Amino acid sequence: MSITCSAAATTTTPLQTPSSTSSDRVFNFAAGPATLPENVLQKAQADLVNWRGSGMSVMEMSHRGKEFLSIIQKAESDLRTLLNISEDYAVLFLQGGATTQFAAIPLNICTPDDAVDYIVTGSWGDKAYKEAAKYCKPNVIWSGKSEKYTKIPNFDSLEQNPDAKYLHICANETIHGVEFKDYPTPRNEKTILVADMSSNFCSKPVDVSKFGIIYAGAQKNVGPSGVTIVIIRKDLIGNAQKSTPVMLDYKIHAENNSLYNTPPCYGIYMCGLVFEDLLDQGGLAEVEKKNKKKAEILYDAIDSSNGFYRCPVEKSVRSLMNVPFTLAKPELEAEFVKTAAGEKMVQLKGHRSVGGMRASIYNAMPLAGVEKLVAFMKDFQAKHG
Ligand SMILES: Cc1ncc(COP(=O)(O)O)c(C=O)c1O
Repeated sequence: MSITCSAAATTTTPLQTPSSTSSDRVFNFAAGPATLPENVLQKAQADLVNWRGSGMSVMEMSHRGKEFLSIIQKAESDLRTLLNISEDYAVLFLQGGATTQFAAIPLNICTPDDAVDYIVTGSWGDKAYKEAAKYCKPNVIWSGKSEKYTKIPNFDSLEQNPDAKYLHICANETIHGVEFKDYPTPRNEKTILVADMSSNFCSKPVDVSKFGIIYAGAQKNVGPSGVTIVIIRKDLIGNAQKSTPVMLDYKIHAENNSLYNTPPCYGIYMCGLVFEDLLDQGGLAEVEKKNKKKAEILYDAIDSSNGFYRCPVEKSVRSLMNVPFTLAKPELEAEFVKTAAGEKMVQLKGHRSVGGMRASIYNAMPLAGVEKLVAFMKDFQAKHG
């Protein structure tokens, strides 16, 4: 048998991508990875093949070259401006998702015998607590599990351990749609407050000085998956347990400005574009106003449906980002999701652990998307109510 190689056989035809316009895009209500601002995607598209005359894509750059250094430094500086982060805090761009931080935090802050407190207001807080149990002695001082994670406790009634190294909260529970509107103060001033802000990061102003550590996966509000942001008070760095893997040691990453090993360069670049966009919108106070408006019209539609739709979360702690709701007739849920998708509103199915529906309305979800969803909900109710 002979094998012949001909030019014709090896020539590849360039992939044809259908031209895409704004009107081809759906309203994507996914919980994460989630919708990104269209103007950010367009900027990334314009830069894709040749970033600002460098002759290469950000994906092809050395992470130690001057081009990428300018990208990561600008991303950090813009994030500092957005959240008003002082020089007392380090900002780290890491990998491994928020899930990796569930372990990294106790490994960096505690000895194996140290006590820490967890307030568990949903599945993510519960996962964080379970992971911490491998590396220190966590105690759940409040859990909303018996009430199906629909509440946040009154802080005065919490029995905090005065010796706890930290008090951990999940600032916004993505699956259950429960969001802290203010934050507990640790009883002992040596105890630091630690918050998982994965799903409400940069959705509103936050007083960073109240926290020892804030961490967030990027893929909901500020970029693609692959980047995890950690904001940590500098005096807390440098106490990692001996067995801490190098990739989980905050000291290593802080000393190397997040460039100890190859960072998620493209993801960091995308986060930088999102930070620029948030600043262009007027900063987080303006962004919060828009988020409040979107959430208000959606919760109003649910509450004024005479029970056709229902949101189980206590009103005062309803999330501005993730809106879970059920139908009085659960047998209609599949049709709701399918019909909405047919009208270009996708990813409305609730998390598999809780069922029902969930609309994630992060920063990048336009008001028009929520208005369209509300109109659809009213129409669906009129047909099936
Ligand atoms: C609040 C919260 N914490 C942690 C995680 C886990 O994040 P990752 O998948 O980046 O590890 C998620 C993911 O959805 C989340 O919503």
